[in-house]
Amino acid sequence: MRLLAISGSLRQRSYNSALLDAVAAECRSTVEFVLWRGLADIPAYDEDLDETPTAVAQLREEIARSDAVLIATPEYNGSIPGALKNALDWASRPFPDNCLRGKPVAVVGASTGLFGAVWAQAELRKVLKTIGASVLETDLPVATAHDAFTADGRLREPRLAMTLCGIVGELVHRTLRDAA
Ligand code: FNR
Repeated sequence: MRLLAISGSLRQRSYNSALLDAVAAECRSTVEFVLWRGLADIPAYDEDLDETPTAVAQLREEIARSDAVLIATPEYNGSIPGALKNALDWASRPFPDNCLRGKPVAVVGASTGLFGAVWAQAELRKVLKTIGASVLETDLPVATAHDAFTADGRLREPRLAMTLCGIVGELVHRTLRDAA
């Protein structure tokens, strides 16, 4: 199963990108893990553009050829980062037959605060449902992210690591169920 991982942060030392690295470390035996690195190349959404920008076409293609998607989002002012929302707006077109329609998608998130980006994760699930994705309800709030990872990039808290593997397991299950 091909799992496309998307970090909503552009930051070099992003905790949300680190969270996806932890998924890769924990779950590589279960899924083919593919990290999408194109977020910084996506232009602002403009319905007047005559041609689809190359970076957008690549994003749509990556999503279309993946069985499931996992998004790690930071929380910016109680919501998701503008760059991530912008990329999803592009992915949502043409509507309703977009690359995310019916696609199993899970959301996780890390923040340096005490709540682990729970508002952003809830917002992101709302956006993804509006687009038409098949969204898992489970979230993964990684709070105080600066303390959450071990030196080898795994989640320090066993309960969080178990939830993370559970989320990937749910994505596999939903992908197999939808394909049947
Ligand atoms: C934040 N941060 C933040 N954290 C939070 O828990 N709730 C919030 O509303 C916000 N708002 C916010 C706005 C902006 C503009 C920034 C830059 C940051 C803190 C944020 O969770 C922290 O910087 C994370 O480390 C960002 O994720 P990455 O880049 O490490 O993945």
